[in-house]
Amino acid sequence: MRFDIVTIFPEYFAGPFDHGIIRRAREAGVVDIGVHDLRRWTHDRHQVVDDRPFGGGAGMVLKPEPLAEAVEALRGESGNAVVVLTTPQGKLFDQRGAERFARFDHVVLLCGRYEGVDERVVEAVVDEEVSIGDVVLSGGELAACVVIDATVRLLPGALGCERSAEEDSFSGQGGLLDCPHYTRPAEFRGMRVPDVLLGGNHGEIAKWRRRQSLERTLRRRPDLLERADLSEDDRRYLDKLKAT
Ligand code: 6GU
Repeated sequence: MRFDIVTIFPEYFAGPFDHGIIRRAREAGVVDIGVHDLRRWTHDRHQVVDDRPFGGGAGMVLKPEPLAEAVEALRGESGNAVVVLTTPQGKLFDQRGAERFARFDHVVLLCGRYEGVDERVVEAVVDEEVSIGDVVLSGGELAACVVIDATVRLLPGALGCERSAEEDSFSGQGGLLDCPHYTRPAEFRGMRVPDVLLGGNHGEIAKWRRRQSLERTLRRRPDLLERADLSEDDRRYLDKLKAT
């Protein structure tokens, strides 16, 4: 898979893809990540990429021409690149979004900025607008990192242990939050690891973990329960929790 990032802060990306799973995926040739300075597609001496908004208002707006030229240059002959703009106005990029992106061959990611991007760029060359959540970031660079990280770790060959992606919150637990985890020592500052985890009864351990996931999700993210994959047993346990 290939990502091409278009940004006014190319130095921002020295680091985020140089560690752990993403670094190994790059080294293994599972993904290629190109970073491009938007100013490369300007033609004036001062390499201007933004301008004041028509109609007035605070902040600057990214001009349409450099972005459109960047997309035309990076899209390639294949013609199957998906062009994505990061913006707080976008559709929420969640785990299902990451699973969908992992099936794309080539994504051109345009980093928006908080104040905005000329709407005609969206109309002319953008396929999708994505947001990473209901929080305001000063630019789309961090959002682009989130999109790439979440996507790359799902690519075949990216994780050392293929199972762990499936066991994460939102995908493996059937849409529930993950259960708590413990390692040695068995006692830390007076706090003991739950006995069931030390006992070696795998049936009991699986049941405990499931119930912990259910309880956490109910208390912290009840919205996720509407879409979760729940058994009759799960529903009975949730009803019991709700009654207490
Ligand atoms: Cl994609 N960009 C910005 N600037 N803020 C955001 C965002 C994106 N997603 C959530 N907040």
